[in-house]
Amino acid sequence: MAKNITGFSKLTKNEKITWLTQNFFENSKEAEVELKKYWNTDEQLQQLHDDFTENTLSNFYLPYGVAPNFLINGKYYTIPMVIEESSVVAAASLTAKFWETRGGFKASVINTEKIGQIHFMYQGEKEDLEAYFQQKKQDLYKVTEPLTKNMKKRGGGILDIELRDKTASLNNYYQLHITFETKDSMGANFINSCLETIAKEFENDDIEVIMSILSNYIPNCLVKAEVQCPIGIGEKSISQEFAYRFKQAVDIANAEVHRAVTHNKGIMNGIDAVILATGNDFRAVEAGVHAYAAKNGSYQSLTHCKIENNTFYFWIEIPLSLGTVGGLTSLHPLSKFSLQLLGKPTAKELMKIVAVVGLAQNFAAVRALTTTGIQKGHMKMHLTNILKQLGATEEQKEYLLDYFKNKTVTHSEVTKAYEEYAVKS
Ligand code: MEV
Repeated sequence: MAKNITGFSKLTKNEKITWLTQNFFENSKEAEVELKKYWNTDEQLQQLHDDFTENTLSNFYLPYGVAPNFLINGKYYTIPMVIEESSVVAAASLTAKFWETRGGFKASVINTEKIGQIHFMYQGEKEDLEAYFQQKKQDLYKVTEPLTKNMKKRGGGILDIELRDKTASLNNYYQLHITFETKDSMGANFINSCLETIAKEFENDDIEVIMSILSNYIPNCLVKAEVQCPIGIGEKSISQEFAYRFKQAVDIANAEVHRAVTHNKGIMNGIDAVILATGNDFRAVEAGVHAYAAKNGSYQSLTHCKIENNTFYFWIEIPLSLGTVGGLTSLHPLSKFSLQLLGKPTAKELMKIVAVVGLAQNFAAVRALTTTGIQKGHMKMHLTNILKQLGATEEQKEYLLDYFKNKTVTHSEVTKAYEEYAVKS
């Protein structure tokens, strides 16, 4: 049968599944059962999920976990995290506890400016373009009034429209660089609608608009999260050696791109998990954050560390474009649940929470890497998972966890030890 098709999107969900399973699977019935196993029995809820995107055939589960005891600016949070990677939620929880006893996390929003751009080509004199822009500028605001009315009521709207000459990078290339405040919404639809409306008004015989789109690079939509504690031997301190090795690790991530990328990946383990749980756009955040990591011309660590006056300081500064209203945040029942769990935060509050989780995740990773190594914790998880798969009893688990304390965990070794112990017990 043909493996390509015309009009796939017009088929019903069942027809799509039939076409797919019959064409790409040896056992089409089994494949169909597999897909349908994940359908929700609540038809309304299933329809809601089907309608989020196109050609939906089933649902793809990811674990929804929580990390409690995050003390941020004096307030406790239990943080929802959607992530499939083992150890991430456990590491976040452990780090939350670690810093809870050392004063918790501080976080602050530095600014919240979003950006949209109209990219266009113009071959005439620059002075003429500037004169045209100045003459048009008020009209450009005016045409967006129906769109910005509600946003203005909430304290947002268009902040500025600027003409930028980009001809040094590309012949005849100019742009309208427009800044926005979008308050509690991420603002993608709002920004893109404003841009397209402005572009229509601005375009003329000499100005050829190529495209109008928001930018996911938002270096003026920044949040900072930080921790600090004394270095020494007290309960609320960290040791000199630990502080020194930790700082070296962060310095290495600043100095070397291969390490920087992995270092930042660990940060995104935490950030993406909260972004997903709250129905935000993790691709937008990823793109913006990584561009920010390269803002100095080379890709560097998103976190920073210093030791001063016998005090350990560790902080992150990242751009985050988040919403707590609109989009999936209010449509997906579990996003709604997450936001309720977080006390219905404003977008600014959510920025702080997300930055804190990124910092915590990085602290956990670098702490493990510079002390016991990362595999110890991972292997314990791996071992627990294998034992679960094997159907080990609580008593068998206890024995085998102890047995593998100082041994290398591999699937075959665990199976062998389990079988031997199962025979004895
Ligand atoms: C694994 O998902 C993340 C780490 O590699 C991060 C790091 O190396 O800092 C452990």
